[in-house]
Amino acid sequence: MTCDYFKLANLGVQKLHPYMAGKPVSELERELGITGIVKLASNENPLGLSELVVKAIQGEITDGCRYPDANGHYLKAALSERLNVSSSQITLGNGSNDVLEMIAKVYLQPQHEVIFAEHAFCVYPIVSQSIGATLVEVPAKEWGNDLDAMLAAISDKTRMIFIANPNNPTGTWLGEEPLKAFIKAVPSNIIVVMDEAYTEYVTDGSIPNTVNWLSEFENLVVTRTYSKAYGLASLRLGYAVTSELICGLLNRLRQPFNVNSFALAAGIAVLDDEAYLTRAIAVNRSGMQQIVDSCNDLDLQYIPSAGNFVTIDMAQAAMPIYEKLLRKGVIVRPVGNYNMPNHLRVSIGLEQENQKYIDAMKEIMG
Ligand SMILES: Cc1ncc(COP(=O)(O)O)c(C=O)c1O
Repeated sequence: MTCDYFKLANLGVQKLHPYMAGKPVSELERELGITGIVKLASNENPLGLSELVVKAIQGEITDGCRYPDANGHYLKAALSERLNVSSSQITLGNGSNDVLEMIAKVYLQPQHEVIFAEHAFCVYPIVSQSIGATLVEVPAKEWGNDLDAMLAAISDKTRMIFIANPNNPTGTWLGEEPLKAFIKAVPSNIIVVMDEAYTEYVTDGSIPNTVNWLSEFENLVVTRTYSKAYGLASLRLGYAVTSELICGLLNRLRQPFNVNSFALAAGIAVLDDEAYLTRAIAVNRSGMQQIVDSCNDLDLQYIPSAGNFVTIDMAQAAMPIYEKLLRKGVIVRPVGNYNMPNHLRVSIGLEQENQKYIDAMKEIMG
């Protein structure tokens, strides 16, 4: 080799570890020589696509050779009505990961520090470190964000704070009062990113809709996704809601055509499918109860979750149990990379999928 191309890479990128995605079912079936695998590993919606989405996608096929609407005009209009904000406050992304990366690129430089909690969603360190910013991981409190400790971690170098509400992979959540007091206490030159990927599952008011706080806090950025309750994970669609000024900055570096025509059409269609969302929430609620009941039966502690997944303490190293589940045709998510080597995260599936996991666990745990 004439040159060390690893050392030539951006220092932050050298220190990154690749995102660990769940293996696709087809790959595992091939590897293990079994069929009928159930995937409860990526917090997807088990209902399949909304019928309205299928129709909307079909309607876009003939124009598939054209570039999509670069500004996502109609989707932004639909979202703006739904969220009661102006279209000029919405930035669309190729999944919410895309907008999280844009936010980091707009505001972070190598001299900055970024605060997030231990066990927080792994994309925050990835997008921050790729820019060379310093990561400040604050120890968790009862698996969730310790807001006082996060405030205490602020220095004059802090430029951004990431909070997922609810958090993945722990499912922990923050209520209105502590969260609002926290954002009030954060200096206004620090961008607070509220990642609300799972917010649609929480219908009892225990989680605030921070979009309503945007007029009060200019440093607030709220991100949402269509990958979870709306069931569009493979289409890749998410968005940020911010002040118009921040939206304008995000738009400067957004890749042209970052959201494809099928996602744009699907995003509008699924907003009209109230029944789909209602069913997704109900299936998640009953499935959560089913999995939680099985934890109680098996005497396993779990972290109460507001998302579409639950993270369970196996009371021993979790990887061997993960491997045994795989062999029984159930994929869940090990979370050792989140410093939780004894836990497994189980996404809530359909009743029969959850039952397959429960039966496998009962056999494994004897
Ligand atoms: C907390 C959180 N934020 C953001 C995302 C990103 O989702 P997407 O890029 O599919 O919108 C996820 C996905 O699992 C997540 O758990």
